[in-house]
Amino acid sequence: MNEEFLSKRLSARTEQGLLRKLSSENNRIDFSSNDYLGFARSLELKELLAAELEILNLKQVTGSGSGGSRLLTGNSKYAEELEKFIADFHRAEAGLIFNSGYTANTGLLSSVAQKADMILYDELSHASVYDGVRLSKADSFPFRHNDASHLEDRLKFLRSANPSQQEIFVVVESVYSMDGDFAPLIEIASLCEDYKAKLIVDEAHATGIFGERGEGKVVEIGLEKQVFARVHTFGKALGCHGAIVLGSEELRNYLINFSRPFIYTTALPPAVFAAIKATYNLLNSSNNNILIIRKLISLFKFKIEEFKISGFLKSASPIQSLLIPGNDKVKETASLIQKDGFDVRPILSPTVPKGKERIRVCLHAFNTEEEISALLSSVKKQVSALPEIVLASS
Ligand SMILES: Cc1ncc(COP(=O)(O)O)c(C=O)c1O
Repeated sequence: MNEEFLSKRLSARTEQGLLRKLSSENNRIDFSSNDYLGFARSLELKELLAAELEILNLKQVTGSGSGGSRLLTGNSKYAEELEKFIADFHRAEAGLIFNSGYTANTGLLSSVAQKADMILYDELSHASVYDGVRLSKADSFPFRHNDASHLEDRLKFLRSANPSQQEIFVVVESVYSMDGDFAPLIEIASLCEDYKAKLIVDEAHATGIFGERGEGKVVEIGLEKQVFARVHTFGKALGCHGAIVLGSEELRNYLINFSRPFIYTTALPPAVFAAIKATYNLLNSSNNNILIIRKLISLFKFKIEEFKISGFLKSASPIQSLLIPGNDKVKETASLIQKDGFDVRPILSPTVPKGKERIRVCLHAFNTEEEISALLSSVKKQVSALPEIVLASS
């Protein structure tokens, strides 16, 4: 079979040093996964899951596919009660579970925003937001990262220049996936109120971490009533899989009717619904791991100062990124740190803007203080060996 059209593009990627490859597990210390609370490896969670499977009468997990989309045979009382339970946990009126955070964002944005509408989104939004914007028929505009005045200029312009503009949606992440910084939610929510825009907050990296029990940033700040929709994913701190869109009962009904990524796909298997319930039971039962991760974030920031490492972006979340501009340089530095036994990954452009390539360090409740010190000592060694010019451009 002639597949030259594929190999040409792959060769171009290889030449640019950008070829992506799957790699299997390694024995390095995990400073890379999004399993911030260690739930994906939790024995306590395993027991809670067994209890949920018992309720579902699903001790045999094999062959437990859902058999159809939620609108056909894939629905259950258990799934609907779970949605209500999660909505209550996050202090929302209602929620609808999607098969992943990716489909939650694409399913939400592509369906709620219509042709005459406008989506304003932070330029550092996740790829699933970009793809949701592309799938919708609305106009769109990326505002500068965390720049509320840029957003306000645009809102002002839209509301004065085009009074017939129906709905304006503003999309932000409460914690940004690559920089680990927070959206200025209070300011943005207030702008949305002033300009009658609907605020959508992706809480992927805040779920399980912020709020007293991990309810997310919106609850932590008390903005539940000012937000049109929230997306919480289960694949990161919750160590599971899937996502929920939270909002009004009306929004839930709307998504069931119009969101193609919800309608035209097989529902998650019942065992995954049980696993999601078990992770929420674990969150409800103790906030110990949340307290530990918060302590480790403070410790990490303190140690960066102590080791005098420059180049880390300011962040008070488990995501701590060290800028090392240049794809080759960041790949090489990451591989030297990996050789010291730490699982850190380079993030290359175009995933991040050119010149903002970085090593993205993720902290976890299971990382020890000694591991953090040893990692930073390795980072210090490798960064000190870099030519000044590389660091200066960060
Ligand atoms: C901000 C953000 N939103 C959505 C997603 C997608 O979530 P999922 O992995 O559940 O598809 C991610 C995953 O990387 C993310 O970082």
